[in-house]
Amino acid sequence: MASYLQPTPHPSARILAGVRSLPPPPTAPLLPTRNAFAGRKAAAFRPARRFVLGLGASFWAQSMATSGAFGGKSFLASARPSSNVEQVLKNVEWPEQFPFKEEDFQRFDESSDSQFYEAPRFVTHIDDPAIAALTKFYSKVLPPSNSPGVSILDMCSSWISHYPAGYKQERIVGMGMNEEELKRNLVLTEYIIQDLNVNPKLPFEDNSFDVITNVVSVDYLSKPLDVFKEMSRILKPGGQAIMSFSNRCFWTKAISIWTSTGDTDHVLIVGSYFHYAGGFEPPQAVDISPNPGRSDPMYVVYSRKALTA
Ligand SMILES: C[S@@+](CC[C@H](N)C(=O)[O-])C[C@H]1O[C@@H](n2cnc3c(N)ncnc32)[C@H](O)[C@@H]1O
Repeated sequence: MASYLQPTPHPSARILAGVRSLPPPPTAPLLPTRNAFAGRKAAAFRPARRFVLGLGASFWAQSMATSGAFGGKSFLASARPSSNVEQVLKNVEWPEQFPFKEEDFQRFDESSDSQFYEAPRFVTHIDDPAIAALTKFYSKVLPPSNSPGVSILDMCSSWISHYPAGYKQERIVGMGMNEEELKRNLVLTEYIIQDLNVNPKLPFEDNSFDVITNVVSVDYLSKPLDVFKEMSRILKPGGQAIMSFSNRCFWTKAISIWTSTGDTDHVLIVGSYFHYAGGFEPPQAVDISPNPGRSDPMYVVYSRKALTA
């Protein structure tokens, strides 16, 4: 099964070099999917994307320079695509306010997500070694199969959740955009279709889940703080949220701040969602890339809901 996702188009080298203008986005769709913006002139989007890049650069430079990480040097001057991934969330001094602006969460394709996901895609979005690495990671951190009373939410789910073979719990809910995909996902005990960019409210009771997973999809959330606040509300105290991603995406549907930056920045971006949503322990990152440089990289940013509010 082939992946539809493309490598993130703008590697961190561009941001590291302080390049403020980006190459023009392609005028033909990169993806073999429906894309309402395929024929639209890309130039209309360039100013916003330049602005986003500048904003992101200044935030990271400031926050990393004050954090003392990397010997007090600017993160922007020293980052490499993946080697700093596990270090970057250690000892971060976050700015007081969430540093991103509305423009950072714009997408190249702002047409309806329901339409984009209308047709099922029975594909895998990362290669087999990356999937195997994620499943191995899950086998170490998820509650043992068939633990009494355990509830799990697989957010941004599809026909596959990448849990260990035969994994079962009393309740495993899938939230996603395509019913045919979710119906086919055998690990789920129930599913819900909901566009989180239209309605970020999670339809669950407070303190009701032990684990929330989200695989290669956090970059599509255009209201991430609302969603992460909801995640904190519905997790049981001590419950964990596990966000994993690679370097691929449906780039027309990913948020600007993601497509303008590289892997290490993505770890910081997701870490910032946990931090500014509140209610979570300091987020941590782990690089589970199976064969660096030879297969898809795989990163996990995770945190637990704090035991006391
Ligand atoms: C690249 S797929 C990943 C699917 C699955 N997690 C996997 O690993 O195969 C992206 C997923 O993000 C979810 N998604 C994208 N936009 C969304 C939105 N606006 N609201 C809710 N879910 C969304 C969809 O469920 C879609 O299947």
